[in-house]
Amino acid sequence: MVRLGSLLPAVLLACGLVAAEPIPKTDYDVIIVGGGPAGLSALSGVSRVRRKALLFDNHHYRNAVTREMHDVIGNDGTVPSVFRAEARKQIERYPTAHFSNSTVTNITSVGDEDFTIFNVTDHTGKHYSARKIVLATGLRDVLPSTPGIAAAWGKGLFWCPWCDGYEHRDQPFGIISNIADVLGSVLETNTQFSDIIAFVNGTYTPAGEAAAQSQHDKWLEQLNAWNVTIENRTISSLERIQDGGVHRNKTIDEQYDKFLVHFTEGEPIERNAFIINAPTVQYSQLPAQMGLNITNNKIDVVTSSMRTSQAGVWAIGDANSDGSTNVPHAMFSGKKASVYLHVELSREDPASKISKRSGLSEEELVEEASNAIGSGLDRHYKKIMGRH
Ligand SMILES: Cc1cc2nc3c(=O)[nH]c(=O)nc-3n(C[C@H](O)[C@H](O)[C@H](O)COP(=O)(O)OP(=O)(O)OC[C@H]3O[C@@H](n4cnc5c(N)ncnc54)[C@H](O)[C@@H]3O)c2cc1C
Ligand SMILES: *[C@@H]1O[C@H](CO)[C@@H](O)[C@H](O)[C@H]1NC(C)=O
Ligand SMILES: *[C@@H]1O[C@H](CO)[C@@H](O)[C@H](O)[C@H]1NC(C)=O
Ligand SMILES: *[C@@H]1O[C@H](CO)[C@@H](O)[C@H](O)[C@H]1NC(C)=O
Ligand SMILES: *[C@@H]1O[C@H](CO)[C@@H](O)[C@H](O)[C@H]1NC(C)=O
Ligand SMILES: *[C@@H]1O[C@H](CO)[C@@H](O)[C@H](O)[C@H]1NC(C)=O
Ligand SMILES: *[C@@H]1O[C@H](CO)[C@@H](O)[C@H](O)[C@H]1NC(C)=O
Ligand SMILES: *[C@@H]1O[C@H](CO)[C@@H](O)[C@H](O)[C@H]1NC(C)=O
Ligand SMILES: *[C@@H]1O[C@H](CO)[C@@H](O)[C@H](O)[C@H]1NC(C)=O
Repeated sequence: MVRLGSLLPAVLLACGLVAAEPIPKTDYDVIIVGGGPAGLSALSGVSRVRRKALLFDNHHYRNAVTREMHDVIGNDGTVPSVFRAEARKQIERYPTAHFSNSTVTNITSVGDEDFTIFNVTDHTGKHYSARKIVLATGLRDVLPSTPGIAAAWGKGLFWCPWCDGYEHRDQPFGIISNIADVLGSVLETNTQFSDIIAFVNGTYTPAGEAAAQSQHDKWLEQLNAWNVTIENRTISSLERIQDGGVHRNKTIDEQYDKFLVHFTEGEPIERNAFIINAPTVQYSQLPAQMGLNITNNKIDVVTSSMRTSQAGVWAIGDANSDGSTNVPHAMFSGKKASVYLHVELSREDPASKISKRSGLSEEELVEEASNAIGSGLDRHYKKIMGRH
């Protein structure tokens, strides 16, 4: 006679249940590094579905210097710190959402083939474990060391015509850039400014001309057609002579900054606002330290999910390779990562009864998450319409 007890393992094995290991205990489901719009958006997404999460934020925000934030619908003209504080206040209502003001110094993978697990260390030496990691660590702008540039940054001197520019529209304008990148800036700002001087700082050389030509055919003719004056003298400093934070008209959204550009020789030139082409680098060492794939200073991600080259690790916001650096993108990518990692955690749960729990293909994840995020609704809708 076969007793039930000896039969049970075989039945369970057939169902694939015996192979199911219990979920390892970790302090958190997910740890998010970064409390800018990207990290906050990811935290909101995981908190709504009650994932236990910890967000680290050491208070270095890329747009900290700007007077107001723009092109963020519903928050056009909001001061970034006010925006973040309001977001935190709303997210704090979810009991599974936790915050830390510490700096994360190290993240190591300590998982196995079934479960990704990470050991996160902060600057006080405290350790935390989590099954998923989201990096929302941002970028840093590398500005020229020329005196006056850093002080003007975000306050009359900007890089993004959607963020700034409108408040200085039709005022005397400058482009601080090597000569090859001037036309690109003109193409972005010509609807905001018509009196434009390009301060190319000695780059109007045969090599500079060749670089410009390789980017745009007939670049000089185009600059002439846009009425752009090229100023090739070497810049020695930027001097602020009026503060648009004080001299402004909020009724008509205008700010009246004023600067003198000084050169190593000759007379200075007065301008009210500038765009500058400066490079960016990763703000944090963590992505490189973790050995993530990084191309042109951006963390490589699969843009359908914001996953990095390492299992269980997502990268969102300015830091990732999604090709967009603004607040709406930060929020979009944070939202996307939160959906994908939530689904991945659920798929790793023994209840999902799948044999290969941690190795979901990108395709499978896209399918699952797009259903969760809403595009699957379209198919269901068509099915229902067909039936009735
Ligand atoms: C001058 C200026 C003006 C701008 N204006 C606008 C605008 O008007 N509209 C717009 O859409 N965009 C604007 N931007 C772009 C905008 O700032 C970025 O797109 C946005 O901040 C990206 O959000 P993020 O969350 O990826 O990174 P960030 O906002 O830079 O946040 C990074 C976060 O990571 C944290 N962090 C990093 N490393 C660690 C660590 N090891 N431990 C703990 N915390 C860590 C930081 O403290 C911070 O909380 C502007 C940018 C600049 C430079
Ligand atoms: C952490 O930072 C937030 C602002 O981001 C602040 O409100 C809070 O008081 C800080 N907490 C501690 C313990 O310093
Ligand atoms: C991070 O932690 C790992 C494992 O403890 C260690 O080997 C490595 O040296 C640490 N890296 C840094 C930069 O502290
Ligand atoms: C995390 O790393 C620290 C330092 O390397 C170590 O002491 C600790 O045991 C690790 N924790 C886990 C869960 O791996
Ligand atoms: C101008 O060029 C000099 C080198 O010739 C460089 O040191 C400086 O940073 C540049 N300034 C700006 C504003 O680009
Ligand atoms: C621009 O300045 C550089 C550096 O001073 C110089 O070599 C070059 O000849 C100048 N170009 C023109 C067109 O004057
Ligand atoms: C450039 O200036 C000329 C002469 O003032 C003017 O006719 C032309 O419309 C201007 N072009 C642009 C693109 O502003
Ligand atoms: C702001 O502009 C409006 C409209 O031109 C004008 O009526 C008002 O006086 C201006 N306010 C200030 C403080 O200059
Ligand atoms: C990461 O880089 C390695 C080495 O270049 C490459 O083989 C791998 O495909 C990359 N992975 C991703 C997800 O980009």
